[in-house]
Amino acid sequence: MDASERPAGTAELVEAARAARDRAIAPYSKFRVGAALLTADGHVIVAGNIENASYGLTTCAERVALLKALSDGHRTFSMIAVVADTAAPTPPCGPCRQLLWEYCGDIPVIMANLATVTATLQLATLLPMPFDRRLL
Ligand code: THU
Repeated sequence: MDASERPAGTAELVEAARAARDRAIAPYSKFRVGAALLTADGHVIVAGNIENASYGLTTCAERVALLKALSDGHRTFSMIAVVADTAAPTPPCGPCRQLLWEYCGDIPVIMANLATVTATLQLATLLPMPFDRRLL
């Protein structure tokens, strides 16, 4: 997807994710990630990854943003931006994909670094054949 095809508001959302990345708490991996989630009614909820000395209790930026948003009452989402300081895109990890699918459905996932957008993929592409409530 080239720049002209990106969803409206992509640049602003990426900028919000970059700013959130600055507040990430990642003393162990030093891999700071920022996420910004856009709601259907135009709110932007941002987060950075939050690490823990146990390592396993680390929470990814995407998940912190999603849980913040849900807990604040937001229920409908239209896109997410994920920013890391890497040349290659940083896609959401498997558990984050599953959680995003549950609450956001097939939204565009914009991956970017500090300078540019590196990839834009639909969540359904990142999580083919998902397990969800339709299968219960
Ligand atoms: N991380 C995220 O926050 N989001 C991703 O999409 C990939 C990984 C975090 C988890 C951990 O704090 C650090 O990056 C290294 O894995």
